Amino acid sequence: MGAQHFLTETYGGYRIAKQPAIDEDLTRVGPRTPAGELLRRYWQPILHSADLKDLPVPVRILGEDLVAFRTLGGEVGLLERHCSHRGASLEYGKITENGIRCCYHAWHFAPDGRLIEAPTEPAQNLYAGKLCQGAYPTREFAGLVFAYLGPPERKPIFPLYDSLARKDFHFGLGEPDGNKINIQPTNWLQMMDNTPDQAHEAFLHCMHSGPQFLDQNGRPITELAIIGELDWWETPAGLACHEARRVGPDVWVRSMELLFPNSVQVCRPPVFPPIYPPEKNRIEYPPFLIRWKVPIDDTHTANYSIIFYFHDEPADYFTKPTPAAKALYSNRTYEEMQRSPGDFEAQIGQGPIAIQAREHLGRTDRGLAMMRKMLRDNIEAVRRGDDPKNVVRTANGPIPTYSREMMIRVPMANDPETDKSLLRQLSKQTLDLSFAAAGR
Ligand code: FES
Ligand SMILES: [Fe+2]
Repeated sequence: MGAQHFLTETYGGYRIAKQPAIDEDLTRVGPRTPAGELLRRYWQPILHSADLKDLPVPVRILGEDLVAFRTLGGEVGLLERHCSHRGASLEYGKITENGIRCCYHAWHFAPDGRLIEAPTEPAQNLYAGKLCQGAYPTREFAGLVFAYLGPPERKPIFPLYDSLARKDFHFGLGEPDGNKINIQPTNWLQMMDNTPDQAHEAFLHCMHSGPQFLDQNGRPITELAIIGELDWWETPAGLACHEARRVGPDVWVRSMELLFPNSVQVCRPPVFPPIYPPEKNRIEYPPFLIRWKVPIDDTHTANYSIIFYFHDEPADYFTKPTPAAKALYSNRTYEEMQRSPGDFEAQIGQGPIAIQAREHLGRTDRGLAMMRKMLRDNIEAVRRGDDPKNVVRTANGPIPTYSREMMIRVPMANDPETDKSLLRQLSKQTLDLSFAAAGR
């Protein structure tokens, strides 16, 4: 499928030493680039609320250098970093009751960008009250500051997904490395590619590196090594990515939903052996995490996550880093990285910007191809002047998502092939439940 270099010659390294080019449309994120414009149509997390203290914070996002601050009055501002007077960086500015003052000549800007005061100019000067520093709207949720960097007239509502609107959930930051922001030296797309690529879970996260996922009792989920049946379906919010595995008398339907274009919702993993409620042959596991992959620039991407769990649950499982979470982070020794690689190593190994033209996609990469098509179609929608997928301008309530994980007790079919189709049916039924819950 699609590979430019299908080498069939042994010892043929010389034939492929010249590499094809990167996909400019999907990987570049700066202003006025195709993917950059698409990503600018959505609210993106840009930093932790707790990092807004008494000093301004330089922020880089989608290749733009900005500065964030919280006024003494409590309002969050996100401004173009270089002062519109003569370009001094506002990271050296002073936060005021209602804005930020540049260190160089004290021009004073409001969080919406308005120049409130320019003390170097006469009182009736042309600028104050008229000139604006570039500014972006912000919104805080669950300890994260989100920003919208797109055209003002296209601003969507904040994506309050149904899982984020639950009254019975506690919400918190989900970075397993304490509250440090995790930045990977890779392009955003190869980090997103990870989601519709469920096949890597069995290989990378279990067979290769030892089981990297733990259940809620802290037991390594060795069942991850079972190769299941993969399926992908488009949902209104993105792409549902399922894998159904036969685990003895049970079928485990694992579900992740790519929330278009750059986040993923993950469900809490099951406990083995499953303990079914009386008279029931199924257990449902709701989502517990949404993670955004936010491009800082073409070759750096930040992970921001919100975790959620029931108020009466011990927080431990959700806040303690699992081996998979640790392997997502770069602060391990090189030997540790080599001995038990995780997503971080797999992705940085693809290079700063993975070159799609040298891939050889296979059967398990069908979801990846669906995601990339969705990206191209929606880049096109933006070019045409339409709203892309999963941009919501008005809503009567929370935005439905379509992820739930299931454990179902169902006897194995008589032969492996029939059992495989049973697994796929159960996988689809699990998705249907999400659609029914959303009233679709
Ligand atoms: S450069 Fe900012 S006030 Fe002069
Ligand atoms: Fe992974």
